[in-house]
Amino acid sequence: MAVTDVMVKSTGAYVPEKILTNKDLEKIVDTSDEWIRTRTGISTRRIAADTEATSDLAYRAGELALKNGGIGPGELDLIIVATITPDMFFPSTACIVQHRLKAKNAVAMDINAACSGYIYSLVVGSTFLQTGTYRNALVIGAEKLTSITDWNDRNTCVLFGDGAGAALLVPSDGRGKLLAFDLGSDGSYGDMLYIPGGGSRNPATERTVSERLHYIKMNGNPLFKIAVNKMRKTFERSLKSAGLKPEDISVLITHQANMRIIDSLRSFLKVPKEKVFVNIEKYGNTSAASIAIAFHEACEKGVIKRGDIVGLAAFGGGLTWGSAIIQY
Ligand code: ACO
Repeated sequence: MAVTDVMVKSTGAYVPEKILTNKDLEKIVDTSDEWIRTRTGISTRRIAADTEATSDLAYRAGELALKNGGIGPGELDLIIVATITPDMFFPSTACIVQHRLKAKNAVAMDINAACSGYIYSLVVGSTFLQTGTYRNALVIGAEKLTSITDWNDRNTCVLFGDGAGAALLVPSDGRGKLLAFDLGSDGSYGDMLYIPGGGSRNPATERTVSERLHYIKMNGNPLFKIAVNKMRKTFERSLKSAGLKPEDISVLITHQANMRIIDSLRSFLKVPKEKVFVNIEKYGNTSAASIAIAFHEACEKGVIKRGDIVGLAAFGGGLTWGSAIIQY
């Protein structure tokens, strides 16, 4: 069977207006601007309004990617939303976005791979195009992480923010191409980063609410080391399968979880600092949205140009990890 090459035609992103600074957080939990900046690299994060749900952020990012790509909603074949903060259990957030976009002909589905969700979705979307099943796919990473953030837990509440990013995938016109990818999962570490309550294991009750089981629980310190190790290995596998070396990468975008993770990974991979695009200081960790927003910003700023080789690497709850090498 002939395989169609797939390219990113356009991108979009949306972040909520409200900015929460480290100084604001000092008034909420026992923390300091200095600790947050030096331990994580984060200065501010965006907070969605009470009236905004994940689908609202996803819709805005997706709408912009479609506009930038010059494709009407009726022409869209597939919408994938990567999220761990869906509007509700069902319908899927992707179905809600499909309705908002008036993309009546698009198949819509969510993917849950936490912070790796955007790369998982890029790969799933691309595969449908490679086989010729669909002609295009709108892939969105979107999160309202503040809806599952425990504002009493200083270990986690300083890290997260809200936002969405999107990419429109189409068959290659000869300029861009998905060159390689690698995905991985390990469920044995599931309880290092999870939300215990609200699902079928611990359905919502007064007890689960009073025990704060509906918020993110994270064992951050050991996760740090696993994140660096898994992202390094997955990225090396993608490089190998693309037949490339680290010096061939024009721009590296990793999941924006912690500046120290990004720095360690960069030095292990031997990618110079000036080739790494970072926006963690503005938005914090937006999980599935993080690489998607950064990819869009890097394109908007001209940091990523047509023909550039872009490396992506992510790591998140599940545990999940993944990488992709894209010629833009
Ligand atoms: N302000 C001040 N002090 C704090 C804060 C805070 N906000 N948070 C923790 N501390 C304290 C701790 O209580 C601890 O104090 P102690 O030594 O008196 O016990 C001290 O700081 C050090 O705590 P550590 O947890 O060891 O801090 P660390 O340097 O590991 O940084 C962090 C914590 C930022 C969470 C880091 O471990 C990290 O980024 N981990 C990886 C997270 C990740 O990649 N997650 C996966 C993706 S996210 C997703 O999928 C949704």
